[in-house]
Amino acid sequence: MNGFKPQVMLAQVASPSYNSGVWFDESMRMRPMTQMTFELAEESLAPEDLRHNKLKDTDRAFHDWYRFVLSYPPHLVRTYFSRFGLGTGHLVLDPFCGTGTTLVEAKKNGIQSYGIEANPMACFASEVKTSWCIDPEELVKHAKMVCRRAWRALNDWNGPLKTLPPEQEQLLLAHSIDPVPLHKCLLLRNEILRTSDLVVREVGLLGLAFVSVFVASNLKFGPEVGVGAKRKMDAPVFESWLSKVIEMASDVRQFASLASVISRCTLGDARQIPSDLAPGSVDAVITSPPYPNEKDYTRTTRLESVLLGFLHDKQELRAFKQSHLRTSVEGIGQVETDELYVGVNKTGEQFIFPLQAKGARDKVGIVQLEQDLALCESKFPALTCHPLAAQFVQDDLIALFEFERSEGAISIKEEKHYRLVPNEDLSDDEIAHYRS
Ligand SMILES: C[S@@+](CC[C@H](N)C(=O)[O-])C[C@H]1O[C@@H](n2cnc3c(N)ncnc32)[C@H](O)[C@@H]1O
Repeated sequence: MNGFKPQVMLAQVASPSYNSGVWFDESMRMRPMTQMTFELAEESLAPEDLRHNKLKDTDRAFHDWYRFVLSYPPHLVRTYFSRFGLGTGHLVLDPFCGTGTTLVEAKKNGIQSYGIEANPMACFASEVKTSWCIDPEELVKHAKMVCRRAWRALNDWNGPLKTLPPEQEQLLLAHSIDPVPLHKCLLLRNEILRTSDLVVREVGLLGLAFVSVFVASNLKFGPEVGVGAKRKMDAPVFESWLSKVIEMASDVRQFASLASVISRCTLGDARQIPSDLAPGSVDAVITSPPYPNEKDYTRTTRLESVLLGFLHDKQELRAFKQSHLRTSVEGIGQVETDELYVGVNKTGEQFIFPLQAKGARDKVGIVQLEQDLALCESKFPALTCHPLAAQFVQDDLIALFEFERSEGAISIKEEKHYRLVPNEDLSDDEIAHYRS
C-alpha cells in the first residue's frame, strides 16, 4: 500500500455471539452442544458507544439494502471520519469493503470512497448501494410491473417447480431454502432479468439477494452461517421484494443531493493495488480485514451468490476461494479450516476444536483433517486439539464425529447422533439437567 497519504487501519469492533440450541441424541437423552455466549450487553451501552455493533434504525438508508453478518456498523465509520477530520474533498479507501459500509457512509457524508472486495456478491452489493443515479419513480414503476409478471408466472405455472441446475444446487448448504420459496425466487429472478433498464435490473437483483436470504431461506447467522431448525415451506417472496424496492427508491429520493459523490468498488485482491487508484490520492483507510484463520467468506454469501449467478459450479467456487486471504501452515502452504472453537474445562485445561461442517452429500475429508491438525499444532501448540466433524444425516438429524491420531493414522474416536428439537419441546427438568 505504498504511495498513499496517511494511512489508518481500523480493526473491526467485534461482538460475536454464538448460541447453539439444545440437542437430543437418538436415545432422547438430552445432550447439550457447546454453548458459548460472549455477547456484549448492548442494552446497557449508550447509543454512540462503539461497542454497539448493530445497524441503528436511523442509519438504515442504503446500508440495509443488503448487509452480511460480517459488516461493521455505520456509526463506527462515522466516528472515525470525525476523528480523522475527513470531509468533502477527501478520499477514503476500504481495501476489504465487504458489503460497502465504509463506502455508503462516506457517500452519505459527502466523502469520496474507493473499495476493493474479492467476493463478487459483496462487491456487487457495494456497487449497487453506492450508485444513486436512479429515477426513484421509474424504479417503483418497473418493480410493480416485475412483481405483477412474477405473480402471473406463478399462477400460470403447472409443471414441476423450478429448481437450480444440479451443479449449482450442490454448492448450497443443505436445506438452505425449501422448494416453494426457491421456485418463487427463480420466477422473480427471471422477471427481473427481463427488464431492459440496467439500473432497475441491478437494484432488483440486490433486492432479491436480500429477500432470498432474509425472507425465503432457512439460513441463520450467529455469527457463522447455518440452517435454522424452523423450515420455511413457503414465504412472501414477491410482496417482500416489492416493499424492499419501494424502500430503496425512497432512500434514493431522500439522498438525491449526494448522488454525484464519487464512490467506486473494484472486484479484486487487495494485495494488488488497482491501476485506477492514483498514488497519493487516499486520505485515510478504514477497513476491517478478513479473519483468514476462521472465516470462509464464500459460505456467508453462498445462496445469493448462486441465485444471482456469481457461482456456477465447484471449479468456480475453488477459484473464488483462492482469491481470498487465508491462513498457511509451514510445510503445507495454504489451508482452509471451516471453523475453530476454543474451550476450557473445569480444571483449566484449554482446548481447540477444528470443525468440518458437511452437508448430507459431502464426505469428511482425511486431507482436511490432516490440515486441521497441522493448523492447530502450528498456531495453537499449547491447546489440546480435538478435531470434529458435523454432518446432516436427515433434516433434523446430525452426526457428530470426534477424530484422533493414533499410530500415525487418523481414525474416528467417537460418533454420536443428535436430533434438533425446538426449545419449547423441552421440559423444565430437561433444561435443568442440560444446565447441570
Ligand atoms: C470483515 S469483512 C469486511 C466487512 C465490511 N467492513 C462491511 O461492513 O461489510 C472482510 C472482507 O474481506 C474480503 N476479502 C477477503 N480476502 C480478500 C482479498 N484478498 N482482497 C479483497 N477482499 C478480501 C472478504 O470477502 C470480506 O468481505
